[in-house]
Amino acid sequence: MTNEIPQELLWELAGSSKVVALTGAGVSAEVGIPTFRGPDGLWEGVKPEEVATPEAFKNNSQFVWNWYRERRLRMREVNFGVSHKALAELETIIPEFILLTQNIDGLHAKAGSKNVIELHGNIWFDRCSKCGVRVEASMEQKIPRCKNCGGLMRPDVVWFNEPLPEEALNEAFEASASCQFFLSIGTSALVQPAASLPLIAKNNGAFLLEINPNETPLTYYANWSFRRKSAEILPAIVENLRKILKV
Ligand code: OAD
Repeated sequence: MTNEIPQELLWELAGSSKVVALTGAGVSAEVGIPTFRGPDGLWEGVKPEEVATPEAFKNNSQFVWNWYRERRLRMREVNFGVSHKALAELETIIPEFILLTQNIDGLHAKAGSKNVIELHGNIWFDRCSKCGVRVEASMEQKIPRCKNCGGLMRPDVVWFNEPLPEEALNEAFEASASCQFFLSIGTSALVQPAASLPLIAKNNGAFLLEINPNETPLTYYANWSFRRKSAEILPAIVENLRKILKV
């Protein structure tokens, strides 16, 4: 953890009643879930682009199902990290705090965050590929059929070449456009439409803070950018904010 959080940034955050954070794979990398585009950006030896697609599911449903089952088995063993915890704490300190995540692992909720918008779905649910009904994830080896219509069930996550859930996306746009402070944490900010959310916030007058060990296309626009891991910065922000707000 660091104590090098600039006062100017802390006061800006302390004075913001509506704050939005966007998280990406970097936050969960800290607890051992591989990122998409890092050096070990492969999941179980397979490129996500080759298996996390509607085409792959159409052509080889069982392979895709097995691959997600394997991911579920691994993710089940993983607990949230200090970054997830710090974000859950921020929610309790800031009057209106909305967490937008591109992660599908459900770790923000596990850490105690309540106001979470999951832009890319949640691996702990299944959805019928035909009628869309959503149920808790099955760990069966054989792909289950929908109890309503008999369609094949699939993980309730957004695949490459698929649109984001409309309601979640609208809420995310709305929150970003109306917040005073926006944190972009652990995302390469390359995948649309999530990548446009920080810029929408900035264009509407929000202070934009980025936390990422690597530069991203967002860095240029950020009011402040930490070239650090989120676990080194977020707990320090929470601790210092508590001091300022005396909470
Ligand atoms: P990426 O894998 O593209 O980027 C992860 C980012 O996390 C990189 O910029 C890293 O530098 C950064 N990072 C790594 N360790 C970090 C740490 N400890 N603290 C902070 N940052 C760290 O993952 P995303 O940006 O989440 O979508 O990818 C966005 C979307 O691309 C995913 O949700 C996925 C994929 O297409 C779908 O599957 C629909």
